[in-house]
Amino acid sequence: ADRLRVGLAGLGTVGAGVVRLLDANAALIERRSGRAIEVVAVSARDRTRDRGIDLSRFAWLDDTAALAGHDEVDVVVELIGGADGPALTLARGALSAGRGLVTANKAMLAHHGLELAALAEERGLPLKFEAAVAGGIPVIKGLREGAAANEIARVTGILNGTCNFILSKMEAEGRDFAEVLSEAQALGYAEADPTFDIDGIDAAHKLAILASLAFGTRPAFGDVGVQGIRHVLGADIAEAAALGHRVRLVGVAEAGPSDQKGGGLFQRVHPHLVPIDHPLAHVTGSTNAVVAEGDHVGRLLFQGAGAGAGPTASAVVADLIDIARGVVGTPFAMPAAALAAAPRADSGERRGR
Ligand code: HSE
Repeated sequence: ADRLRVGLAGLGTVGAGVVRLLDANAALIERRSGRAIEVVAVSARDRTRDRGIDLSRFAWLDDTAALAGHDEVDVVVELIGGADGPALTLARGALSAGRGLVTANKAMLAHHGLELAALAEERGLPLKFEAAVAGGIPVIKGLREGAAANEIARVTGILNGTCNFILSKMEAEGRDFAEVLSEAQALGYAEADPTFDIDGIDAAHKLAILASLAFGTRPAFGDVGVQGIRHVLGADIAEAAALGHRVRLVGVAEAGPSDQKGGGLFQRVHPHLVPIDHPLAHVTGSTNAVVAEGDHVGRLLFQGAGAGAGPTASAVVADLIDIARGVVGTPFAMPAAALAAAPRADSGERRGR
């Protein structure tokens, strides 16, 4: 079969990582996919920035939206970020123009996932987003496919590498919040706007996606209660330790009593006191972890690198390999039409709003 031609939008940490990974493992990827996967066109904000990769072999598009309809492009990889704006324009444009879409954009999926899934399914196109949640950990495939036959009672996770890095450093080294934040930024973990990390919004985007996959509801960011780590003090961490606990930013989605309004799905992200004997207490640095409890499979623990170039690029390229193999699949837990008809999760009462 012919090579799979990729149009890549966004050349930040992850975008450059995708180019490097496709170069480094080209032969292996071709063997496993049954065809070569090649970037043919790219678009990013700054053409001249040195990213340590050779861009001269790709067509450069100043107009990102033009990637969607580019003649040479079979599949668009969207790594721009942001719930709306150019990322959403490109995503809608790509699917409308008959191109498959791979994205790492959790914000866009948490807000517009159902619309994009419907667009993809109507056209029989793949929409894949393994990289959107927990970087290199295959938790999307794990929940959507691995746990597909189970009733899930609860999904719990450490979903933001920047916050976990900060909390772990504060704990281990007794350091200040601000100092550790700039370190996480330098390592390429933090969002372009790091308030999304420290205020829990990034984790809430990811939780909305996981909850949708686990419970068969539409992704609904507005239903997630959010509190970040801005106000966590070194003294809080020391006090928690004295009580045999660690402070972690944890996302929880769980089924409540079924007589609750909206079917009783509660979604929230906030700093937790995690007992030292719980697996999440031992997740340190930028590592992420997700625990899912299914009625037949039991407790599943997914753990690994949740941020950074190599891990996140691995998830993007895994999706491209799926597409090269001809896998279309269903983006969420069930077809978009069924998701749209399912009761909307409503955690409003429990959140006290
Ligand atoms: N800013 C995110 C994090 C990147 O720190 O986890 C990965 O989504």
